[in-house]
Amino acid sequence: DGPFSEKLRVPEALTFDDVLLRPKESTVEPDEADLGTRVSRNVELNVPVLSAAMDTVTESDMAIAMARQGGLGVVHRNLDLDRMVEEIEKVKRADELIIRDVVTAEPGQTVREVDAMMEGEGVSGAPVVDDDGEVLGIISGTDIRPYLEVGEHDEVREAMTDEVITAPQDVTAREALELMYEHKIERVPVVDDENRLSGLVTMQGILQRREYGDAARDENGRLRCGVAVGPFNLERAVAADEAGADVLFIDTAHAHNRNVVEGSREIKEEVDADVVVGNIGTREAAAELVEFADGIKVGIGPGSICTTRVVSGAGMPQITAVTQVADVASQHDVPVIADGGIRYSGDAIKAIAAGADAVMLGSYFAGTDEAPGRVVTMNGKKYKQYRGMGSVGAMSAGDDEDNRYLKEEPDEEDEYVPEGVEAATPYKGSLASELHQLTGGMQSGMGYVGAETIPGFKERAEFVRVSGAGQRESHAHDVVITDEAPNYSPDE
Ligand code: XMP
Repeated sequence: DGPFSEKLRVPEALTFDDVLLRPKESTVEPDEADLGTRVSRNVELNVPVLSAAMDTVTESDMAIAMARQGGLGVVHRNLDLDRMVEEIEKVKRADELIIRDVVTAEPGQTVREVDAMMEGEGVSGAPVVDDDGEVLGIISGTDIRPYLEVGEHDEVREAMTDEVITAPQDVTAREALELMYEHKIERVPVVDDENRLSGLVTMQGILQRREYGDAARDENGRLRCGVAVGPFNLERAVAADEAGADVLFIDTAHAHNRNVVEGSREIKEEVDADVVVGNIGTREAAAELVEFADGIKVGIGPGSICTTRVVSGAGMPQITAVTQVADVASQHDVPVIADGGIRYSGDAIKAIAAGADAVMLGSYFAGTDEAPGRVVTMNGKKYKQYRGMGSVGAMSAGDDEDNRYLKEEPDEEDEYVPEGVEAATPYKGSLASELHQLTGGMQSGMGYVGAETIPGFKERAEFVRVSGAGQRESHAHDVVITDEAPNYSPDE
């Protein structure tokens, strides 16, 4: 035997279809299974699911929907810096208790002007402020109605309610509701010590927050937001941090690279947000990252639109990759995210059994309403676009100068060496219903294993190895499917 034939004594690496969870005695009903987890050292989620940082998956609409449902959206980085900041701010403002962009009226405007303005802005009331921002009154549709027709040229100061109930800057949702209840009002201006307007709390806003009891929120009650940044773009990372992003995802195709590690370390030192670094797929890589990262993301080539493994010949089947990284990360209390290759809820919960704390999905969510892009119809079926961030289309559209897959910007399109494809994925409707199927299936997995929590499940779950025959048996077989199930479509 020589050094080269030695190379063929290889360890086996497995992926989702190679394994199943071994059923175990259980006292856990699936709907009792608690999906709470941590995505990074300081960020907890009620739902262990992230939407991928891809330009056909996550911008603010997706990130808002994900966070409201308890997960986390990671805004992609094919955006110029200003757009990125705007997207983060949209998420952070979406469910804010105190609205900061308040539509206001001036006392000298006419009732008619203010009526038109409120209609244009889609609000049903507005604080009336003087030039210094001091609150003089509040005006609503109810105040305005008697003036229309007969007094629409009267000034707002005539029509407004001038005994305004205001709240201090540190008002809580409960206190605001009590004020509204006591005074039978629906909006309360928030003022500083000198009675100057600093925000507005509305009944509608509070009720909306209640609707999303599982939402991922920061300590101020704002929705959580993740964002992808490059390892060599400190300016972007700092801007994302200042815009309020909760978790920065250092987004690379191969984070076990000296320059990436150094760039990521530098970013980690400069920002307050948690820093998750990826992607990797081996224990040696994990040993490097646990030194400083707040979370580690795993996946070298498992993604549905990825061609990394066939183009480069490199990769690691995802279940093995996750176990290797989790072996190391768990010793250092660093959360692990399994990114890519998840087609069914069963895959997602297998990734957790393999040691992940959360999962990231692209194709699963790309067909939903909240993903960027429009619905197209082909042969009578509806689709949305879904493309790899290493596809020619995504690389040439990129505004971020250090695209994850781009070595150097070529002059001609045919000089790109892509590691991903551009595709279409079936249109699926709302994110909430897709996510419901995903988490429901994950809870079923926890029920079969008899674990009530994610940490408990990670410990208790065991795998069995599945043969090709076993795998065929797992799927619907020997039948013609007549009605589409909401959580299953057989692979082509
Ligand atoms: P799924 O399977 O959920 O995978 O669609 C999403 C993940 O795939 C990764 N990704 C890529 N990998 N070439 C790759 O090799 C690409 O062009 C590409 N684009 C995205 C990424 O980790 C994402 O979260």
